[in-house]
Amino acid sequence: MTPSDAVASRTSLRPVRAARPWSADSWKTHPAAQLPHYDDAGELQATLDKLDKLPPLVTSWEILALKQLLAEAQEGKRFLLQGGDCAETFADCNNEVIANRLKVLLQMSLVLVHGLRMPVLRVGRFAGQYAKPRSADTETIDGVTLPVYRGELVNGPEFNAAARRADPQRMLRGHARSAMTMNFVRALVDGGFADLHHPEYWNLAWVDRSPLAGEYHRMVDGISGAMHFMETLAGPITTFQRADFYTSHEALLLPYEQTLTRQVPRQWGWFNLSTHFPWIGMRTAALDGAHVEFCRGIRNPIGIKVGPSMHASQLQELIEILNPEDEPGRLTLIHRMGAGGIGQHLPRLIDAVKATGRRVLWVCDPMHGNTEKLGSGVKTRRFANIRSELEQAFDIHTAAGTRLGGVHLELTGEDVTECVGGASGLSEADLGRAYKSTVDPRLNYEQSLELAMLIVRKQGFGAG
Ligand code: PEP
Ligand code: CO
Repeated sequence: MTPSDAVASRTSLRPVRAARPWSADSWKTHPAAQLPHYDDAGELQATLDKLDKLPPLVTSWEILALKQLLAEAQEGKRFLLQGGDCAETFADCNNEVIANRLKVLLQMSLVLVHGLRMPVLRVGRFAGQYAKPRSADTETIDGVTLPVYRGELVNGPEFNAAARRADPQRMLRGHARSAMTMNFVRALVDGGFADLHHPEYWNLAWVDRSPLAGEYHRMVDGISGAMHFMETLAGPITTFQRADFYTSHEALLLPYEQTLTRQVPRQWGWFNLSTHFPWIGMRTAALDGAHVEFCRGIRNPIGIKVGPSMHASQLQELIEILNPEDEPGRLTLIHRMGAGGIGQHLPRLIDAVKATGRRVLWVCDPMHGNTEKLGSGVKTRRFANIRSELEQAFDIHTAAGTRLGGVHLELTGEDVTECVGGASGLSEADLGRAYKSTVDPRLNYEQSLELAMLIVRKQGFGAG
């Protein structure tokens, strides 16, 4: 066996333990939270039959490559930057929104690479983040009660009966838009958009008005100088010319996920080919629930959202169910406790995971524990709380002897006003100006960049 055979067999080894039987539809025998009711079973099946014949969105090679990179992040050799919309919309599947989101993620990763002195693994919450868990099944406005909006893959956000009907056809439209998004992202990246020699491609119109512009430009100049120096010595370095992006979304709408879960030639097992990196949301992490059952049998890396209500034993069992062989790169724990809750809940969960002796990647989502509703009914998040949760996360991991290996953020490249605070001091009064999210408030371009700079100040090279 050559060394490369050894690597190949390690990544393609079948599990040795006898696992409970699993099939792509075994989730159907488990209680399923957060799934919509489809009123026409025939229409649902006919639509899934069409979806079944369409090409997948990603490949098994990419999925296994990502798993390897996540394994390196678990070893402290990479930092994960996972970000994008709370809920993508079909209307936002357009040139500008996709390119702007990519620009922000590229700028943030540049800041992180430079400051952390470590490769950054970029994973978008895009090309399929179309299904949302909700806290109630219905919504009542002025005495009228309708099914709640569950994301564009299920129904529409408008408050009328036709829009709120769970429409199976939306799965075909969501698949097509995911493919268009992926196609454009891949073409941009392959075509030179991510080339480090041209960070000016990623500038957004309002960057120079930002109080952060000076710091960012100084850093870019420093990187350009270093690259020039290295290429003068070594000749052109091709790795500077591209930056890979992987996709992720919450694996929520199981009929859709199942239909895109397939076997591929020369690989054992099943891959969810709707995305590289599905995650299990906080509301669907029940041990005997359908979502955990579904994710158990696919070979993708899996994220689990971990909230303050998670019991130590539940987390330990989730790890056992989802990664019985302790496979490297398989599990990422995305904790989202809130600035006020992280100090209480994260240490006990770190201890619980330590007690299993299993490997995980720890990632902080400082967004979902910090959502609040203002008197006006508008949902927002305060930058100060997001920042505080993230800073505490670094400190708690350091104190515990574990390592925070990434961040999971809701952000956009648009100049929205959804979260308050940040360098430009957005106030509650500003929220009316450009609030576009259909579900949770996102960081805008400037707040996202500020957070990346903050991570570097907290944890970066020379930070003290
Ligand atoms: C989300 O990521 O948009 C989400 C709903 O998260 P959580 O499951 O952590 O609440
Ligand atoms: Co959200």
